[in-house]
Amino acid sequence: MDKVNVNVNELLEAQAHVWNHIFNFINSMSLKCAVDLGIPGIIHSHGKPMTVTELVAALPTLNPSKACNIYRLMRILVHSGFFATQKLGDDARVGEDGYVLTNSSRLLLKDDPLSIAPMVQFLLDPMITKPWHFLGTWFENNDRTPFDTAIGKAFWDYDFHDTKLGNDMYEGLAGDSRLVARVLVENCKGLFEGLNSLVDVGGSTGTMGRVIADAFPHLDCTVFDQPQTVAGLQDSGNLKYVGGNMFEHVPAADAVLLKWVLCDWNDDECLKILKQCKNAVSGGKEGGKVIIIDLVLTKNGKADDEASSLTETQLLFDMAAMVVMGGKEREEEEWAKLFSASGFSDYKIAPVLGMRSIIEVYP
Ligand SMILES: C[S@@+](CC[C@H](N)C(=O)[O-])C[C@H]1O[C@@H](n2cnc3c(N)ncnc32)[C@H](O)[C@@H]1O
Repeated sequence: MDKVNVNVNELLEAQAHVWNHIFNFINSMSLKCAVDLGIPGIIHSHGKPMTVTELVAALPTLNPSKACNIYRLMRILVHSGFFATQKLGDDARVGEDGYVLTNSSRLLLKDDPLSIAPMVQFLLDPMITKPWHFLGTWFENNDRTPFDTAIGKAFWDYDFHDTKLGNDMYEGLAGDSRLVARVLVENCKGLFEGLNSLVDVGGSTGTMGRVIADAFPHLDCTVFDQPQTVAGLQDSGNLKYVGGNMFEHVPAADAVLLKWVLCDWNDDECLKILKQCKNAVSGGKEGGKVIIIDLVLTKNGKADDEASSLTETQLLFDMAAMVVMGGKEREEEEWAKLFSASGFSDYKIAPVLGMRSIIEVYP
């Protein structure tokens, strides 16, 4: 180590930096534990700041010998912004601290329509975290993803039907879709102007499709996904379900929606999907388009201070796409290349969805 330029304080700071990265998974696992124990819901139902004693008493399955550790779990979750503390103002306990929810833990209430609690359970399930132990091995082998190396098959070939893991994944996606759909129908109505039909490709169990169909009753909406995903789902009103393979065919419509789909696939696979989408929207009429909801990374992950936490989220998503599904998050240049290689003439990016953008692509 070069002792000339690095003083001891800088070394101690560097050491803490390393420790933080070694232990980052503890933040994830503490969060999962809070969701497993239902802590956000318990604090929410309490209706006012909840002391640690009240929280301990409200945890129905807590082993009494572990009660003293709930304070320690809550302390790190307060530090990471999932809960806050407020001084109690009432009765004999004036001045005592009570836990309250933050915006982040409100998104973890299990019965909330926007809940992403199932996503916490899905993404931190041992089956999804196991592939990370194979990342180094994967760089040296021929497997498509570390998931393939760890689990023995590709993610989308895994049969999630009727499994707890599958239910968590689809419920988590549904919570996210409700939030994104709300932004689309409230703030981005223009996106749907002039359209009579729309197909949500990789539309999962249809949460997004349902909100759009209800908001625009004149629009014929189709949810298109793998046959096993849409099996048993009932058409209703202006929303119908079609099973199929987007690599082979996409039903014709004025517009195709691809939300959180292309990031699951590599460039060759995206080209195949986009070509099918282009065929679907260019049935001889003008005005067709593909609407992509996905991340647009900044060049080299650079960000000004204000955007740096969103950039970190984007970079984490990119690594997750690589490890679990063999996909990737893309910079604008990479998107542009994909669009022109699949025969589209123009595109427009609107960064209006937090870490994600709406990209309209025109044939
Ligand atoms: C990450 S999910 C996104 C789901 C939904 N668009 C959303 O944002 O909630 C990707 C979807 O692609 C679907 N999918 C995977 N392979 C497919 C294929 N070959 N054809 C059609 N859909 C497929 C999956 O079943 C899944 O619902």
